[in-house]
Amino acid sequence: MLTIHPNAKPWHSITLTTLHTPSSFPFKTKILPTKITNTINENNQTEKSSAGNIKRLVLPQEGRTKLDTFSDREFYAYPRFVTHVDDGFISTLTNLYRERLRPGSEILDLMSSWVSHLPKEVKFKRVVGHGLNAQELAKNPRLDYFFVKDLNQEQKFELESCSFDAVLCTVSVQYLQQPEKVFAEVFRILRPGGVFIVSFSNRMFYEKAIRVWRDGTAYSRVQLVVQYFQCVEGFTQPEIVRKLAATSGAQENKSAFSWIMGLLGIFSGSDPFYAVIAYKNFKPVYE
Ligand SMILES: C[S@@+](CC[C@H](N)C(=O)[O-])C[C@H]1O[C@@H](n2cnc3c(N)ncnc32)[C@H](O)[C@@H]1O
Repeated sequence: MLTIHPNAKPWHSITLTTLHTPSSFPFKTKILPTKITNTINENNQTEKSSAGNIKRLVLPQEGRTKLDTFSDREFYAYPRFVTHVDDGFISTLTNLYRERLRPGSEILDLMSSWVSHLPKEVKFKRVVGHGLNAQELAKNPRLDYFFVKDLNQEQKFELESCSFDAVLCTVSVQYLQQPEKVFAEVFRILRPGGVFIVSFSNRMFYEKAIRVWRDGTAYSRVQLVVQYFQCVEGFTQPEIVRKLAATSGAQENKSAFSWIMGLLGIFSGSDPFYAVIAYKNFKPVYE
């Protein structure tokens, strides 16, 4: 099921395979090509590129299971107008986006909600959101368009290959039961040199997180996301960004109690920050 932002304008960079939207929907339809790229070898013969192929499955079947086996669509059927991580985490993430995302680029915010963590002052060409709750996505001020899709049911994005400069996935990767296929799809829709930034903390809807995540440690979760990248042919070696006690303006607003506890190292109260980042084919160097 695909849902379009109420103020959506025609955007021909998106092509769709199936439409379940009003007949006034302005996009053209097109069947996505099954091949990603072709290259010519020395003998001038066409050779299929292996880029974007899944080299191996990271998770055993048991590792993909969730305690709550009911549909994710139902779980997210009512909107949650909350923030899922604290201000310190968000501030660290926004700074990371400030560093890594180029102004004027096209961005897909995967598994998004009503809030955006993109830096407010930076103008992007287009920001497309994806999630499971249309009401949340419709409220997200940064989205030009959005679509709703259960990635545990189907992993194919109805988006053109090589059409985004960046894909973001914030505090949500733990809910993916087919991460290898989703990461391969992200690879497909990224332009060469495009970046995929996956960030997470230690919070989760426990019953909806996959078993390996629930049973894991901070270290093993980072390694898991690294492996999600490594199982897809063509991503650069993943970089890890880790910040355990986020220091930001938000910290200053905390109570004296949590500040003292933080000083004593007993309880900092802030959400640990982890991000795993990789690029399609190469990491661009900007002047
Ligand atoms: C904890 S929220 C994070 C939302 C947002 N990224 C943020 O930073 O506020 C988890 C998100 O994952 C998405 N999600 C969970 N399960 C999903 C699934 N099976 N398919 C697609 N999206 C899913 C939901 O839309 C939900 O908004």
